[in-house]
Amino acid sequence: MIRLYHVLGRYKNYALGNSLLTVSWEDGKVVMIDQTKLPTKLEYVKYTKYQDIAKAIKRLTVRGAPAIGVAAAFGMCLAAFQSKAGNTAELLSDMEIAYTLLRATRPTAVNLVWALDLVMKKAREGNSVDQIRKGILDFSLKIAQDDVSTNKKLGKNGAELINDGEVILTHCNAGSLATVAYGTALGVIRAARESGKEVRVIATETRPVMQGSRLTAFELKHDGIDVRLIPDTAVGYVMSQKMVSRVIVGADRVLRTGHVFNKIGTYQVAVMASRHMIPFYVAAPISTFDLESDIGDIVIEERDAKEILQVGNRVVAPKGVGVLNPAFDITPPELIAGIITEKCILQPPYKNSIEKNIQIDR
Ligand code: MRU
Repeated sequence: MIRLYHVLGRYKNYALGNSLLTVSWEDGKVVMIDQTKLPTKLEYVKYTKYQDIAKAIKRLTVRGAPAIGVAAAFGMCLAAFQSKAGNTAELLSDMEIAYTLLRATRPTAVNLVWALDLVMKKAREGNSVDQIRKGILDFSLKIAQDDVSTNKKLGKNGAELINDGEVILTHCNAGSLATVAYGTALGVIRAARESGKEVRVIATETRPVMQGSRLTAFELKHDGIDVRLIPDTAVGYVMSQKMVSRVIVGADRVLRTGHVFNKIGTYQVAVMASRHMIPFYVAAPISTFDLESDIGDIVIEERDAKEILQVGNRVVAPKGVGVLNPAFDITPPELIAGIITEKCILQPPYKNSIEKNIQIDR
């Protein structure tokens, strides 16, 4: 069913096996899985214009914090190759235009701006148009490769926590499809399995965009990992029935205080986990940390009301009703048992453990 990916050679240092490759660079084009078509169709789309990458990020063709960071970095490479600039100043100016467009696509996940800033910094180091183009492409390919090795390290660290036979609840999709490959929260589950432990997963549907049913269930089934879907509203019940031993979710942004921005509903899951004394873990690479901002600085993306008013094309709410559709929420540090990174598992108090262990290259 799954096309084994022809650019695996690019990532040959990383044993991806049959894992899905979400976003890659191939012969001057950005190739990505069109996640809006999942789970019914596994389709790859190719882009040659940065403007189309911006649209793809906005319409969730590619989504998940690390994956949009890599897609945006590749978008900057397209911008550099699209540019007709005759000198470095003109090229940098064209790239600034692309930067602004790509940055405005989604406000909450920090990986987007992290990757864009690093690519711009790299571009400013080049002494000629060709040098800039080559420099940022090599750099973006490295960001993509590092994403996979980071997830593998993070997965291994997290797997140490997992006991044989656990049932892990996850929310949204923090898997292969949210990264270049392997995933963060689902990377922990993959690593636990690779170390010989039996692990089963309960995935929430994750309304309204259904990342849990469309994406998490799809990729876990693809890898032969036992997964059962529940409606978001069943989290309390399954926890009260002792059907969950641990929660692991991803993150879109982690602040220096340990506050975690992640898919809407994460906070509710964390509160429920606390009520039932189930350890609630966050899996996030260091690129997802934002040590500078305060809670009030972060924009929570508000998505189209149609996501709530309709299920597919069917209208499910009265005409004219008001809608709130925040795409992310904030889980406070006191609800989090640990934050799993590629370096270590951060323990509370997070102000101290983050300050001691997390340094960010910007
Ligand atoms: O709106 P999405 O699908 O981009 O939201 C994704 C999430 O909230 C993920 O949990 C997060 O990006 C972590 S991905 C490793």
